[in-house]
Amino acid sequence: MATMTKTIYILNGPNLNLLGQREPEIYGSQTLGDVQSLCKTACESNGYTLEFLQTNIEGELVNHIQEARTKACGLIINPAAYTHTSIALYDALKTLTIPIIEVHISQPAARESFRQVSYVAQAATGTISGLGVNSYLLAITAVINKLDNA
Ligand code: DQA
Repeated sequence: MATMTKTIYILNGPNLNLLGQREPEIYGSQTLGDVQSLCKTACESNGYTLEFLQTNIEGELVNHIQEARTKACGLIINPAAYTHTSIALYDALKTLTIPIIEVHISQPAARESFRQVSYVAQAATGTISGLGVNSYLLAITAVINKLDNA
């Protein structure tokens, strides 16, 4: 693994820019900036660089996933509502050979019926959900673990 890039991509989908303001009873009071700092510390203390991105636009998520093909050693994605709708994200994720962890702050399985399908899960190595922003930190551990044991 000598030439492997040490960059972990974390991608965030629509409305996650409003974390901390948006339905705090479901998503908590921490902002996306807070999540980014926690993730940066977790990556850097393990010798990895973090690329942390958010967009409300589905095609931009596809572009970032494609970028990750050459720039990332692991990808963590909270696709937000696109989890439940996007075949484009599924197809893009299927082009990757690196570990992919799907992350949710809430527990979609315990919510509305339209959240019961995840297209992303079908392309992911694993899913971590329902643990608040700690879901992101557990996903970083999962990616690093996968890479260490590859
Ligand atoms: C979410 C869960 C999705 O169902 C929802 O559309 C989101 C956030 C979560 O992190 O819990 O926007 O991905």
